[in-house]
Amino acid sequence: MAKIITISHQKGGVGKSTLALNLAYKFGQEVRTALTDTDPQGSTMQLKNIAEGIDILEFTNISELKKLPYDVIFVDTPPYLMADIYPIFLESDFVLVPTKAGVPDIIAIRATIELVKAAQSKSNLKSAIVLNMVKPRVSITQQAIEQLGQYNIPIIGEIKDRTVYSNTFLTGGVFSSTDTLAKEEIDNLSTSILNFF
Ligand SMILES: Nc1ncnc2c1ncn2[C@@H]1O[C@H](COP(=O)(O)OP(=O)(O)OP(=O)(O)O)[C@@H](O)[C@H]1O
Ligand SMILES: [Mg+2]
Repeated sequence: MAKIITISHQKGGVGKSTLALNLAYKFGQEVRTALTDTDPQGSTMQLKNIAEGIDILEFTNISELKKLPYDVIFVDTPPYLMADIYPIFLESDFVLVPTKAGVPDIIAIRATIELVKAAQSKSNLKSAIVLNMVKPRVSITQQAIEQLGQYNIPIIGEIKDRTVYSNTFLTGGVFSSTDTLAKEEIDNLSTSILNFF
């Protein structure tokens, strides 16, 4: 059975698709990897036949996808909480919740986190938050740290605001670039996720 890693946050533009694709490229270097998007109109689906080293799958049914011959399937999700996201969480092995480091962004994760916690009470689901688009030389505020603390979900790393990420869909992600700092960030994030298994 493929491991299912779902990237979710009901807010738009927090970097779900960007991280899903970079992580898929990373895992694709080592294991059989696929990427899908529960939203057929989602940006990820435009990569069909273009992405190298990974397969882009049309989203059908999570239980069926799991049976396909992959080691890991990344599931990108749209910027709203659709009715069927909860069953997807229940079938996932890991839910990664990217957020920007601003207080309003962190407050906005609550709805997603509540669904994650509900799923965790019924399954073996693991979950973590990753801070995304962190501005260089700007430290996260005390208020933001407090907000994050109340969710009681591990925070596994920081992805900085970098041009290479904004070009991910055009250029094949950080591993096709010369940005060693970005590659290191995605390497570290992948290792942190693997440590949960
Ligand atoms: N670490 C980063 N540094 C710089 N730009 C980033 C970073 N992560 C994402 N971006 C850019 O931010 C924008 C939003 O990212 P992305 O599309 O991945 O978010 P999303 O959560 O999938 O959005 P949606 O919910 O609308 O699907 C994109 O233009 C993307 O290129
Ligand atoms: Mg997206």
